[in-house]
Amino acid sequence: MNNVFVFDHPLIQHKISLLRDKNTNTKEFRELVSEISMLMGYEVTRNMPLKEVEIETPIGIAKTKVISGKKLGIVPILRAGLGMVDGMIQLLPMAKVGHIGLYRDPETLKPVEYYCKLPVDAAERDIVILDPMLATGGSASAAIQFIKDKGVSSVKLMCLIAAPEGIKRVNESHPDVEIYCACVDEKLNDHCYIVPGLGDAGDRLFGTK
Ligand code: PRP
Ligand code: URA
Repeated sequence: MNNVFVFDHPLIQHKISLLRDKNTNTKEFRELVSEISMLMGYEVTRNMPLKEVEIETPIGIAKTKVISGKKLGIVPILRAGLGMVDGMIQLLPMAKVGHIGLYRDPETLKPVEYYCKLPVDAAERDIVILDPMLATGGSASAAIQFIKDKGVSSVKLMCLIAAPEGIKRVNESHPDVEIYCACVDEKLNDHCYIVPGLGDAGDRLFGTK
């Protein structure tokens, strides 16, 4: 596994445990996804470049630092990635948000695209893709490719739970893409669900099952 960063902060791990629990209801599930995304966003942005500026305080001049360099864009994969947007936006209120609509065909398990709208200046931004689940990696790989096809050179993937199979697929198809996650689980089952995972993230977020 290359380019994988697992965030083992106790708060993230605690909230992931609550998220996995099949007795966690839709309201709690939504809140947890949002909170975990904010905590992970804090780590994902750790290496953002800074520049020195001078700020006039009520007392004097402070030589201090502000974020510089490329602006950020976030791109949730619909549907489940939507649940991660709020948490990220709380940290990065100026970030532009694109959307990619993909669903996994239940028979072929291949991703099917139904929507793609990115910020017009996406190519000049660092793009972070949001999707809670990295299972076979088909959806994430396709989303990364759409984004690269729009001229974006800097893409990161942020998910909550990843399967080794999905990491391998993204590593092979996009070796330049860093993957941030809270957990790497054991494997996929016969229906390509992550084991033990948390079930169907979209259904649990939106109460559709
Ligand atoms: C889920 C999940 C990912 C995808 C992961 O979405 O949110 O996008 O499956 O699976 P993969 O790595 O094997 O491609 P799903 O297709 O269930 O759509 P939804 O978000 O609309 O529920
Ligand atoms: N999509 C989900 O929502 N959960 C999984 O375990 C795999 C794909």
